Amino acid sequence: MASPLTSPVRCQPSQVTVVGAGNVGSTLAQRLLERNLANVVLVDIVVGRPQGVALDLAQAVGCDRTRPSCTIVGTNDYQDTANSDLVVVTAGLPRRPGMSRDDLTQVNGKIVADTLRQALGRSPQASVIVVTNPLDVMTYLAWKVSGLPSHRVMGMAGVLDSARFQTLIAWELGVPPQDVSALVLGGHGDLMVPLPRYTTVSGIPVTDLVSAPRLQALIERTRNGGAEIVQLLKQGGAYYAPAASVCVMVESILLNQRRILPLAAHLTGQYGLDDLYLGVPCRLGRGGIEAIVELTLTAEEQAALARSAAAVKEQLPPALAVLVP
Ligand code: NAI
Ligand code: 2OP
Repeated sequence: MASPLTSPVRCQPSQVTVVGAGNVGSTLAQRLLERNLANVVLVDIVVGRPQGVALDLAQAVGCDRTRPSCTIVGTNDYQDTANSDLVVVTAGLPRRPGMSRDDLTQVNGKIVADTLRQALGRSPQASVIVVTNPLDVMTYLAWKVSGLPSHRVMGMAGVLDSARFQTLIAWELGVPPQDVSALVLGGHGDLMVPLPRYTTVSGIPVTDLVSAPRLQALIERTRNGGAEIVQLLKQGGAYYAPAASVCVMVESILLNQRRILPLAAHLTGQYGLDDLYLGVPCRLGRGGIEAIVELTLTAEEQAALARSAAAVKEQLPPALAVLVP
């Protein structure tokens, strides 16, 4: 047996609360556990769902005998989420027939506001990543509800949208996606702004490798990426790539990797835009958003970003209405 002096030192693992044990939430929990990144508390309003998912995942983790594993708890009680380092909000409803975008904004706005109040009440030191749609608007609402400094509240979409663009370029060129570094800015909607000028393949500008018309087709497919999967699945939306994208952000925060990633951040004049959350490149470390990177954009790129921002701003009033008692 090892003496106390030679025993390996085990760091106290971080704790991540995942709100919403649906497709994105439970896949994220699985990814966090498999990477041994943090203990996970999975919370949902449906009795039995988070408990069932947690039990299943705990049994899966036990199959990997090669390393010590983090733990998972499934619960309907926010008391179990206390002292988390991060809260990831994936709870929400999808759009149903007859529902307008504003209806969804209000329904999900109430869910985001309510769940976040409960979670942050038990974990006041936590940072927040919002996943629930409509993403940029829900992130703004979450920031308002949280009372936290804006660098500790952010939204996940840019990593996902960039991953989609990256994959399409890789397929087009027959290269591995790891060789492609793609960048998509703006809101998580039809007006998102893929940026070929800031997209490279092993350092080579993509514009040198893919013709303009083909690139435009890949941009359109990226913009339509979420809807394409909804159409194929017929029920529900994408969740593997969304969960993987959240995990990239969680890793950068918990391991203080300080990666530069596109994410929804609160803008206060950057890119000529003020007081909204929108996808821009940020340096992400243990304290949250450490810096917003301001790229030099052409007039056309800037105009596209402004159009995307205007669409997000338009949705803010119905979202903020949920805060009115
Ligand atoms: P899902 O329907 O599979 O899961 C949602 C979960 O939220 C359900 O388990 C439900 O019981 C739970 N929930 C509902 N109300 C709740 C409440 N008050 N408290 C706690 N839990 C509650 O949906 P999925 O596929 O996991 O997507 C979740 C959200 O993420 C949706 O709004 C979706 O549009 C969004 N999304 C966003 C992406 C992005 O890039 N930002 C990508 C993929 C999904
Ligand atoms: C997606 O882009 C629906 O936001 C979700 O897959």
